[in-house]
Amino acid sequence: MSTGDISEPAGSPEAVVPVLAGEGISVRFGGIKALTDVSIEIPPRSIAGLIGPNGAGKSTLIGVLSGLIPPTSGRVRLAGVDVTSQPAHMRARRGMARTFQQPELFAGLSVREHLVLAWRIARKRSRLWTDLVLGRAWKPAGTAERDGVDRLLEGLSLQKLANAPVAGLPLGYSRLVEVGRALAASPRVVLLDEPLSGLNGDESEHLAGTLFELTSSEGVSFLLVDHDVDIVLDRSDTVTVLDFGQVIASGSPDQVRANERVRSAYLGDPVDGAAKAEETEDEHV
Ligand SMILES: Nc1ncnc2c1ncn2[C@@H]1O[C@H](COP(=O)(O)OP(=O)(O)OP(=O)(O)O)[C@@H](O)[C@H]1O
Ligand SMILES: [Mg+2]
Repeated sequence: MSTGDISEPAGSPEAVVPVLAGEGISVRFGGIKALTDVSIEIPPRSIAGLIGPNGAGKSTLIGVLSGLIPPTSGRVRLAGVDVTSQPAHMRARRGMARTFQQPELFAGLSVREHLVLAWRIARKRSRLWTDLVLGRAWKPAGTAERDGVDRLLEGLSLQKLANAPVAGLPLGYSRLVEVGRALAASPRVVLLDEPLSGLNGDESEHLAGTLFELTSSEGVSFLLVDHDVDIVLDRSDTVTVLDFGQVIASGSPDQVRANERVRSAYLGDPVDGAAKAEETEDEHV
């Protein structure tokens, strides 16, 4: 092939491939349009915030991106690869992880054991489940596993609680363990559905600050869905706002804060009739 065969579009060498992207996603549940033509991009090593009122479609979008909900139309790309037709476990293998709103932890296991379990599941240590069920002694950890889990504990500031059973942990720490379990698979991107719900102000700040640190220390990206708008806007690099299943704004946190439609539809600012009439259907910031 001659060097002249491929012509690069202008600017493409600098173009950053999003670690995860939804393109024109629509979802119908019977007569309900849960999502209509929603597009979102999550850049590498970043936090992408996703906010919107109850029922706006945030969890549905996470379901589509993670492979649990098939879209009626649209595409999902993971690191540039079209994974729309791939099931959730294939996407997980390609580097996607998620947490659920309610931490589902094993009361009898310690923090470290949760991370070891997740580490081994991600790397297919086959005797794992029978060991757990039959109460056999765990396989001894290899160096890579020990180092990897230690690094996770450190990244999450959980070293001091490593051997504590999760049963007695405050919710804030349980959420960190959940994030740790997701990170144990060394994902490119983690989808977090309301990780701050039920946390007090300090716990929320700590968790959000930890996510922020992890974007650079682990090179991972997060999609952060939460009702705590202030924290999402403070900590995200980019923000998408959904309302009634449609993107009403997307951009930097400052752009989103200043957006009239967001202020009236979501942040509760009164907008007079004239201003409201001027708002066009698909106006993005
Ligand atoms: N499995 C389902 N079957 C039917 N309708 C559904 C289903 N899941 C969600 N919906 C509807 O789709 C819309 C979007 O719901 P979704 O749960 O995605 O919103 P959300 O933004 O996550 O809300 P919340 O902030 O309350 O978690 C809502 O009208 C909801 O009732
Ligand atoms: Mg939801």
